[in-house]
Amino acid sequence: MSKRLYIETVGCQMNVLDSEMVVADLKQHGYELVATPKEADTLLFNTCSVREHAEEKIYSALGKLRQTKERNPDKTIGVMGCMAQKDQKLIFQRAPFVDLIVGPGQLQQIPTLLENIAAGKGRQLAVSLGRKAGSQDTIRRSHETFDPLRDPSMRPTPFQAYLRIQIGCDKFCTYCVVPMTRGPEQGRNPAQIVAEAQILADQGCVEITLLGQTVNSYRHTDEEGTVTRLSDLLRQLSEIEGIRRLKFVTSYPKDMTEELLETIRDLPKCSTYLHVPAQSGSDEQLKRMKRGYTVADYMEMMERIERILPEASISSDFIVGFCGETEEDFQKTIDLVRRCRFKNSFIFKYSVRPGTKASERLEDDVPEDVKNRRNNELLDVQNEISAEDNLKFIGQTVEILVEGPSKRGQKQPEESPLVQMMGRTICDRIVVYDGNRRQAGEFLPIEVTDVSSTTLVGRVKTVHSGPELFQLQTLDR
Ligand code: SAH
Ligand code: SF4
Ligand code: F3S
Repeated sequence: MSKRLYIETVGCQMNVLDSEMVVADLKQHGYELVATPKEADTLLFNTCSVREHAEEKIYSALGKLRQTKERNPDKTIGVMGCMAQKDQKLIFQRAPFVDLIVGPGQLQQIPTLLENIAAGKGRQLAVSLGRKAGSQDTIRRSHETFDPLRDPSMRPTPFQAYLRIQIGCDKFCTYCVVPMTRGPEQGRNPAQIVAEAQILADQGCVEITLLGQTVNSYRHTDEEGTVTRLSDLLRQLSEIEGIRRLKFVTSYPKDMTEELLETIRDLPKCSTYLHVPAQSGSDEQLKRMKRGYTVADYMEMMERIERILPEASISSDFIVGFCGETEEDFQKTIDLVRRCRFKNSFIFKYSVRPGTKASERLEDDVPEDVKNRRNNELLDVQNEISAEDNLKFIGQTVEILVEGPSKRGQKQPEESPLVQMMGRTICDRIVVYDGNRRQAGEFLPIEVTDVSSTTLVGRVKTVHSGPELFQLQTLDR
């Protein structure tokens, strides 16, 4: 039997990492990865449920496969990830030609489930327990993942990798489906995390991004009662030779402690980019969202960051049009964005998620056109701030890790000597410059000559003396 695998991934970094592991696993079972659904005999969709739109896109992609499956009944079609966990059997009803449904906690079973299908055992389904479907321990274990398997060719670049340190979420924000799809919050064993980081470093990774839904709430207690927090982990991971940058996403405002910020300040490998979603600038809305902090708490956190890490760049997420959001509430969000001057913000229109507290108890009462308007208005304010704040980089030299050709560079002819390359500073600013493809994976000093709201434009600065280079490395911190 030929084993040609096509995989499509949507959603957050967790899903990107999960797909990498599934591909690594299936390659060990003789599968080869192909680039298009046409060439494949096994098609997997790694799905997201965070907004309705994300799910609709998957259902419509699945719908397009109906005829393909009729013509080629031997093709196997699988749905994995958060939507598999959330919709479970419903997916078989909406797309009866699907063969396989696997939740994020059952990914290690995929090779066996595919074998069962090939052996004629019919459709297969494996998902985790619901949040109230058993003892805490069995629920927890049903959501565990199998992280050591890696496949460098599946990464955004071979020298950058994600590393999960935390599974699930216990915050239960009223709008959010993640605690249901990813299960209870669990800090992974630090010894395992360090061992995996070492493997990544041995494979040539220079940058590791630690993943967790509320990554700065990371906590692990061993049998002797020793507690490891994110700051302890960062210290341990910093020791690994070969790793030059450590990032972590996503942070929860209430757990951005003084101790963590001081650790970041004292560890040169730690990125000074903090993604700490505020979600709203109105106390009434934060309460309805059950975010667990007030605007004053958030501003206090901002002051703490400013005091300990003045060079940090901060980004946020916002939901506009959440239940009960008045024009006044929305103005308070605009005010918060103006006061915090985020590097960038991800803005989402509220989308009702079945199974959440908000879907049961609050009315989705902001009309779609108002959500659209607020979305655009907030985006305009943020873009204006980003463009203004980027101006201060003109004339500065920043150190970047070159990731590869930019979008424009990818369209330039393969043989052209100069292509537009893209990289990031330690505080996650995107930088483009004219260079060559071989520079991917290098750390280069770039003198910034122009900026937009999203990008710094520059040229490679040639440096000769050692001390000067040392200075450059600290400039953008
Ligand atoms: N764990 C992260 C975010 C996970 S989801 C955190 O708590 O910060 C990513 C973002 O999607 C959230 O920050 C939120 O802004 C948005 N989001 C989550 N549920 C949503 C919903 N029902 N409708 C619209 N946006 C939502
Ligand atoms: Fe969802 Fe809130 Fe958990 Fe983030 S902290 S994943 S928004 S429940
Ligand atoms: Fe989506 Fe699941 Fe991530 S719902 S945002 S893929 S944790």
